[in-house]
Amino acid sequence: MVRPQEHLIADERARLVLDRLHERDAAERAAGLPQELRIRALTPPTGAFLYGLILALRPRLIFEAGSAVGYSTIWLALAARTYGGQVIGSEIRPERVREANANLAEAGLDDVATVLEGDAAELVRRFDGIGLLFLDAEKDDYSRLFLAGIDRVIPGGLIIADNVVSHDCRDYQELVRSRPDVHTVTIPFERGLEWTVKRW
Ligand SMILES: C[S@@+](CC[C@H](N)C(=O)[O-])C[C@H]1O[C@@H](n2cnc3c(N)ncnc32)[C@H](O)[C@@H]1O
Repeated sequence: MVRPQEHLIADERARLVLDRLHERDAAERAAGLPQELRIRALTPPTGAFLYGLILALRPRLIFEAGSAVGYSTIWLALAARTYGGQVIGSEIRPERVREANANLAEAGLDDVATVLEGDAAELVRRFDGIGLLFLDAEKDDYSRLFLAGIDRVIPGGLIIADNVVSHDCRDYQELVRSRPDVHTVTIPFERGLEWTVKRW
């Protein structure tokens, strides 16, 4: 595999894990495995985009809905580590939770990020002061996840949802456009990111 140049942002330890997970994702896609058997990781440019966004905004607490085996969580944690932020991931499939946490440990990021087992909509309610809520679970579930988490997001905090161009996320996009308490823009970058700011 040609190493994605974005992985060079990471230190050697994390880079090896990013490389391995990206290679697995590419192999699963090439083999045409059904969606439920694939890890469906972010594209490397999307990981690098989130990394840069976090460096700029420095959210103290990041909550991720849908961590799979931790590829995206590693990107979030690499950025959060630079200023002492914390990342809480969530994953509904227990075997993936174990794998994600093992991958974070292998990447040297388990003191920055941890992945909890369960429904993100339930788990997010345990937290307050979320500066970035990242949605990457099932696309037809984004509205429910948003509604569960929005009260936990600080004013000025961000809710970012992936795949809003690659998938039909119109219900979610209509929901965020209908709410006066948020400002939202669709960014047609990679698979499409819905960038939603909670107003002050
Ligand atoms: C697109 S994958 C996540 C990929 C991951 N963010 C990455 O880039 O490496 C979606 C994941 O969300 C998980 N999931 C689905 N519904 C969920 C829910 N309600 N709460 C937590 N995880 C969920 C799935 O099991 C799957 O592993």
